[in-house]
Amino acid sequence: MTLSATERTAVCTDRMYRLVDEIRETVDRGLPPDLTAYLVGERLAPHLGAPDLLTEAQLEGDPDRYRQHVVHAERDGSLSVVALVWLPGQHTSIHDHISWCATGVHLGEESERRFRLVSDGRTARLVATEDVVNPQGTVCGFAPPGDIHRVSNSGTGTAVSIHVYGADIARFGSSIRRVYRLPADER
Ligand SMILES: [Fe+2]
Repeated sequence: MTLSATERTAVCTDRMYRLVDEIRETVDRGLPPDLTAYLVGERLAPHLGAPDLLTEAQLEGDPDRYRQHVVHAERDGSLSVVALVWLPGQHTSIHDHISWCATGVHLGEESERRFRLVSDGRTARLVATEDVVNPQGTVCGFAPPGDIHRVSNSGTGTAVSIHVYGADIARFGSSIRRVYRLPADER
């Protein structure tokens, strides 16, 4: 497949190229961030679990930490597609995001704890608001603010999720706006 000058894409499967076309069509409608995230999640859902969505290389994990593969970054910064690979027990920091995000669990199962920042003006802490288990096939869309969470693989097998962001992740390095090192409700 020939790439246009507006795209930067790692070696991808034909299914992923088609998915990126569908996502671009949605993003280019210029809708509000939360609605864009929801609609992109709808585009993502039918592809989750398909064996021809990711390449072998995009499924590789890292024994030291969860691994991010940048699958596609649109040159104009309007969207990126990332595959995250989690080995059992691996988790993110507590963080929020630089843009809207749509996520879908491609393989395995992800656990997520959501937090709310509570401050009395002098001190701040993170209060857990929700624990969610996202099985294979689950999609989720959100937009800042109020998007503080930590994601982990609490299962026994590898978990892989697809994340679509409204930003250029190849340039920023990740979708994380801020890592929170505050006292937090732990599991
Ligand atoms: Fe996140």
